[in-house]
Amino acid sequence: MTERFITSTLNRRDSAREATLRPPAFSEFPGQDRVKEQLELFVQAAKARDEALDHILLSGPPGLGKTTLAYIIANERGTNIKSSSGPAIEKPGDLAGLLTSLEPGDVLFIDEIHRLSTTVEEYLYSAMEDFFIDIMLEQGAGARSVRLSVPRFTLIGATTRQGMISAPLRARFGLNIRLDYYDTEPLCAILARSAGILGVEIEPEGAEVIASRCRGTPRIANNLLRRARDYAQIRADSVITKKVAEDALAMLQIDTDGLDEMDLRILDVIISNFRGGPVGLKNIAVSVGEEEDAIEDVYEPFLIQRGYLTRTSKGRVATDRAWRKLGIKRTLGGTQELF
Ligand SMILES: Nc1ncnc2c1ncn2[C@@H]1O[C@H](COP(=O)(O)OP(=O)(O)OP(=O)(O)O)[C@@H](O)[C@H]1O
Ligand SMILES: [Mg+2]
Repeated sequence: MTERFITSTLNRRDSAREATLRPPAFSEFPGQDRVKEQLELFVQAAKARDEALDHILLSGPPGLGKTTLAYIIANERGTNIKSSSGPAIEKPGDLAGLLTSLEPGDVLFIDEIHRLSTTVEEYLYSAMEDFFIDIMLEQGAGARSVRLSVPRFTLIGATTRQGMISAPLRARFGLNIRLDYYDTEPLCAILARSAGILGVEIEPEGAEVIASRCRGTPRIANNLLRRARDYAQIRADSVITKKVAEDALAMLQIDTDGLDEMDLRILDVIISNFRGGPVGLKNIAVSVGEEEDAIEDVYEPFLIQRGYLTRTSKGRVATDRAWRKLGIKRTLGGTQELF
């Protein structure tokens, strides 16, 4: 149940419910201070010069605010935003349609930009750099190419896979922003704001409990907040206190360090089946029954950031912290005993 809960939580994109919690301005977006400072300056400078913003690439694990920031950037610059995604732009013609529908200065947001096909990506290069695209009309002997000019637009690309962006595409972005997991403090601020919008009362201690157990991810924090609200309404007197938050999360089987069932399973496989590693991604994926991509995008970055896992040239290795977390003692010769 927990695993499914977290996975659906992580995979949910752009639902109407998320949109209601999406802050519209930098001033209402807690956390990511360095990124915010950089983007605010960038937007202000473009505004002062009355120019379109340079292209921006936003990368980082799911649920940290990439889509939200794209909308804030357009909002603060005072332009329209058109949104699409890598897999949805199948043919160069789709891209041409999108680009020619833009007004000068508009933002084109392409989510999952690492999933653009190579052909479409190549068409994008001239659009980004020189604001035109050459489109082939007809096939075979009658084929001819037509040059379409494109208004000066700003591309904002979002990706969970920075490493899958080709070098030529990456080089065409003026700003390359990487989002990282949130600390407890900004998460508490996000929870307080979301609670206000959802109309539920949350005590600071209750927010702290949720903030420390949401994998440093605002999307998960907001979803846990909704579950805690249900719990508070049915089992307590509608206020999310420390105890209510703890009980609600215990019911969802959320670990006290914020690890979910899949995180724990990955550590367990590395330790129990592969003596702590090094072990390759493929082996881990097969053993836990999850896609390699999901492990690399969603689970591994968090486990590495929290010091449970390291990546070496030979594969993934569980740290001492991971052994302790699972309560398994490392002994010489690879045998294990419980603490
Ligand atoms: N700093 C923040 N302050 C307030 N809410 C936030 C913040 N970051 C993210 N959120 C909330 O978390 C949810 C997920 O954010 P968003 O959709 O922007 O993430 P994402 O990085 O685009 O994820 P994905 O990679 O899955 O597309 C939204 O409801 C958004 O309102
Ligand atoms: Mg998104």
